[in-house]
Amino acid sequence: MIVSDKVLLDEALRLALQRPQEEIYDDVIVEDDAGLFAGLLSVRQMIIQHSQSLANIMVQKDLANARAAELEHLTEIKSQFLAHVTHELRSPVNAIIELGEMIRIAAEKGYTGQVQDRLALLMSSATNLRSVITNILDLSKIEAGRMQVIAEAFDLVPLLEEVVETTRVLKGDKPVDVTLAARECTVGMYTDPVKCRQIVLNLMSNAAKFTDRGRIALTLEPSNDEVLLEVADTGLGIREDDLARLFAPFTQLEDARTKRHEGTGLGLTITHHLVDLLGGSIGVRSRFGEGTTFSIRIPKRWNPRETSA
Ligand SMILES: Nc1ncnc2c1ncn2[C@@H]1O[C@H](COP(=O)(O)OP(=O)(O)OP(=O)(O)O)[C@@H](O)[C@H]1O
Ligand SMILES: [Mg+2]
Repeated sequence: MIVSDKVLLDEALRLALQRPQEEIYDDVIVEDDAGLFAGLLSVRQMIIQHSQSLANIMVQKDLANARAAELEHLTEIKSQFLAHVTHELRSPVNAIIELGEMIRIAAEKGYTGQVQDRLALLMSSATNLRSVITNILDLSKIEAGRMQVIAEAFDLVPLLEEVVETTRVLKGDKPVDVTLAARECTVGMYTDPVKCRQIVLNLMSNAAKFTDRGRIALTLEPSNDEVLLEVADTGLGIREDDLARLFAPFTQLEDARTKRHEGTGLGLTITHHLVDLLGGSIGVRSRFGEGTTFSIRIPKRWNPRETSA
């Protein structure tokens, strides 16, 4: 086949493809304007190059599209996060301002009883505000990779006994038994006790919040190199469809308009990250209307290299 050197690659290919199949891959003689021989070109080479550059362009396009979609998704999550945070901070701040004003009026009138009552409410709003802020700070610290594990030797059993006591206070006067079953009376650990406590307390405080009657059972089963902790309650339970999104930030399964329980929906997200930081794992099983069991495994000895978060 003879083509001019002005013929574009596409055109040369089109011409080549018009020829019988067995001749497609023949060399092409290129001639210049004056009809002189300008060189040889292999159609096979052209096809290979052409398809390679086409594939590269497609891969780059795919990558760019994926990056754009990811960025869009991140921006979306960020703005949702900001909206939630602002809302969660504004409600207790509003309550504190209004209660402050009511206390001022009651104090002016000399109603000391009212001053006392409203001060108690103001303190509870302020405490709530502090826990929201602590949660948000914890989460941003974790996500920025700045949450440090401070490992030390400690006994896990007294730590769990203390969490059980706190849970009894949290459940208030609801008819709920809070129990601890530990197979051994001391379990030596070398990891971060503050994070262990936070993990178990988050699960136990959820159980206390979402259980109106029955039982909250914390069990500890140590093995050679790890401990298995389970928090089982006889509370609301969680629908199977909801289990997958439980650990995502700001997930609350109750309808915001009819919500009965307080919280920001950050507890489980933080718990999951903390378990990861300690090199452990977390799982959940539940029956809606019957109860929920969270299971966590934590290595007895923290190993920085096994940490996935
Ligand atoms: N033991 C449980 N029983 C039933 N539902 C639960 C239980 N634990 C968690 N949930 C559901 O999962 C949601 C997310 O829990 P998470 O601890 O992350 O948030 P929260 O308790 O609502 O708020 P926060 O922990 O930030 O104060 C809860 O709002 C609740 O709907
Ligand atoms: Mg919670």
